[in-house]
Amino acid sequence: MKSTASGPTYREMLHPELLPPAVRAQAGAGVANELDPINLFNITWRGSDNRIRHVVLSPQLTGVKANVIVLAGRYFPSGSHKVGPAYTTLMEGELAGEIEPGVHTMIGPSTGNFGIGVAYVSRLKGYPAIVIMPEQMSKERYKRIRQYGAELDLTPGSESDVILVLERTEHYKKDPKCKILAQFELLPNYRFHRYVTGQSALEAAGEYGNGRIAAFVSAPGSAGTLAAGDEIKARFPDSVVCAVEPEECSTLFNSGRGTHRVEGIGDKMVSLLHNVLNTDCVMLIHDDDCVAGLELLEHHPQLVEELAGLPQRSLAGLSGMFGVSGICNVLGAIRLARHLNLGPEDNVVTIATDGFDRYPSVLTDLAGRCGEIGSSRLRDWFESIFRGGDPRGFLDVRPASEKNRLFAYKEQVWSNFGYMRAYLQQMQSQSFWDAQYEAIHRIDEDLASLRR
Ligand SMILES: Cc1ncc(COP(=O)(O)O)c(C=O)c1O
Repeated sequence: MKSTASGPTYREMLHPELLPPAVRAQAGAGVANELDPINLFNITWRGSDNRIRHVVLSPQLTGVKANVIVLAGRYFPSGSHKVGPAYTTLMEGELAGEIEPGVHTMIGPSTGNFGIGVAYVSRLKGYPAIVIMPEQMSKERYKRIRQYGAELDLTPGSESDVILVLERTEHYKKDPKCKILAQFELLPNYRFHRYVTGQSALEAAGEYGNGRIAAFVSAPGSAGTLAAGDEIKARFPDSVVCAVEPEECSTLFNSGRGTHRVEGIGDKMVSLLHNVLNTDCVMLIHDDDCVAGLELLEHHPQLVEELAGLPQRSLAGLSGMFGVSGICNVLGAIRLARHLNLGPEDNVVTIATDGFDRYPSVLTDLAGRCGEIGSSRLRDWFESIFRGGDPRGFLDVRPASEKNRLFAYKEQVWSNFGYMRAYLQQMQSQSFWDAQYEAIHRIDEDLASLRR
């Protein structure tokens, strides 16, 4: 096996059980040392029992009858599913002969988790890495990136200042030794999520209700995860794909561009790899609901059990499961299920990109802002967050006029970064996306033959 080619195919990420048994066993044992390169073979939604890692939230908690199924991203190596696109972007670059160890430095434009993934995969594959990200993200993110040996290049501002990150990236593009793992632009991100996440979501939902997916909800950053919706719609054309945005940064909704507290999403743009054809609706959620929802589930599960009428300790399994954007996705799934009036046979799937490990500082900050968080405030929060939601924060983007508005927005952002109109217009056809998806077979064959 050539060292530059080591790592799984797309198919092996979806089905690690197809790996040679010795490799799978080594990968299982490798978890104990996260810097062992064998961990590349743990980039998958499946656990060692080959089941897709997920939870189904109880209707008492959600207040809706539908099954809210949440895929758990925190078990991926490096602690979030963003390691998947980081790996596929690097792997495809190696296969194309554009990235070589000993020659190139990896550049990861990010708001955190993709940067952590780039730092991690680069370390495992033996490349130096530089992560470009805003300076006001959670402290835990910077620590992880440094821990994996990458350099940080910080740009002004916070989550919603990703355009500044992209502008800084332009500077690195001039150096032929730097290779940009461009999550907002490059299609390995789309391929990973459409195939690996999409198929995993379909399999997880197959166990519940009518076995179909009525709706898929994801708050986009790069919009990679939303690509799972393309796969879900290919199987269940009637399913509803919903993009959630922070109310404070309602870019897809109405070109809003404010700052907000939901790290990883709401980047003030239409990402280049967002297939807006397959997004049916946009929903706004207040960023404070996401942070306070995390406070409730992580620090006050007993009170939530009492308020939701659940047995004691029934929420224990959710401890550590969510970051702020995971709560945003869950609230989006609950509110969409309510909006669509879904019943007990219906499944709504969403994603927890990462876990609580990178957000304790966010809750410390909340406590600093709110002072003492007493029981009556927590009760109000539970009611407004888990039972509330403003119907005005919902937009149907299926009409052609809405698609045209989103295409125009995309063109405006990406023509500034050198993309030609003709390429951007190809993206207005589903056949463009399907061709990108079909490329997976060739990529897998190329990788497998290099490993032989
Ligand atoms: C915590 C978190 N949630 C959600 C997202 C959005 O995922 P995607 O970029 O696939 O849209 C990201 C992306 O970095 C993230 O870090």
